[in-house]
Amino acid sequence: MILVTGVNGLIGSTVIREFARQEYPVRGLVRNRAKAQALETLPGVEMVEGDMLHPETLGRALDGVDRVLLISSPDLQMVETQCTFIDAAKQAGVRHITKLSGVTTSLDSPFLFSRMHAEISRHLERSGLAWTFLRPSQFMTEYLREVPTIVAERAFFLPFEDAKLTPVDLEDVAKAAFALLTTAGHESKTYMISGPEALSMTEVAEQISLATGSTVRYVNISVEERNRIQLAAGIPAYVADALDVQSRLRQKGNGEEVVHLETHTALGIRPTPFASFARRHAADFLGTSEWGRAQKERKHPLGLRDLPSA
Ligand SMILES: NC(=O)c1ccc[n+]([C@@H]2O[C@H](COP(=O)([O-])OP(=O)(O)OC[C@H]3O[C@@H](n4cnc5c(N)ncnc54)[C@H](OP(=O)(O)O)[C@@H]3O)[C@@H](O)[C@H]2O)c1
Repeated sequence: MILVTGVNGLIGSTVIREFARQEYPVRGLVRNRAKAQALETLPGVEMVEGDMLHPETLGRALDGVDRVLLISSPDLQMVETQCTFIDAAKQAGVRHITKLSGVTTSLDSPFLFSRMHAEISRHLERSGLAWTFLRPSQFMTEYLREVPTIVAERAFFLPFEDAKLTPVDLEDVAKAAFALLTTAGHESKTYMISGPEALSMTEVAEQISLATGSTVRYVNISVEERNRIQLAAGIPAYVADALDVQSRLRQKGNGEEVVHLETHTALGIRPTPFASFARRHAADFLGTSEWGRAQKERKHPLGLRDLPSA
């Protein structure tokens, strides 16, 4: 049995849909089953409740599980959550954990979440379990956070200057996760995965303009201004501060501008260009989809848990 954690979230839910599309049985771990109804009705999907911070709640979820895809929220508890889960999984007889982190994962990183992912990765490597690391670049869905101002002002406001990023489609990451969990030979290997192009924010704006048939501008703002906007949007101060650090690293060039297609190539996945993602979400960017219409009332970029699925 394969268990995927964090499946009420963005990437976890996309992975579960990929298993269902491939008609491959999978179990998902959620804290709240009521929120997972749409996923639970998919073919071959079993949903089990449990809290990764509380091993005593994980008995049913881990019963008979051989392999796990480890995902949880980027929050202050992430290290404790995932390390507690790794220990519980080992105790329950799990053999192999594939951990989802990010391209910039490093113990030396000034960016909080890159450091946290590295600490968890080190714990997994030392656990004695078989491990694989899946390290995606920025998710393309990050640009959906900017929908409120794109709809209201046909512009989005970020402090990345002329930095280039290589956003990846969640569906490509989900395909990679599916392949890593269902085929052999990935023990002790790291898989970096990005989108096929390095794009400046002006180029991202051009792609959204082309997809929607309506001009969208990128407006560069200061890191301090972005911090004020994030706080006003209700994003916790520690996340806003971490994102400031990330913005400054991006301005200098922190490796996120490097295209990584080696995982697509190794696993036989066709890379999705940003233009396809933008066309798929054109109605969201125009504010004409149900989700897009709901964002019209908002004045700020969206918080961490407000996005539609991939
Ligand atoms: N955003 C990016 O561009 C990007 C790029 C590369 C990597 N990443 C990494 O991708 C990972 C996942 O991101 P995401 O956007 O999918 O996150 P997300 O939407 O917040 O989903 C995470 C899920 O984990 C669950 N979870 C958290 N704590 C839990 C616990 N104690 N027990 C059980 N479940 C728990 C949450 O459950 P509830 O629904 O109950 O809250 C949520 O459904 C993060 O580690 C992030 O650092 C993100």
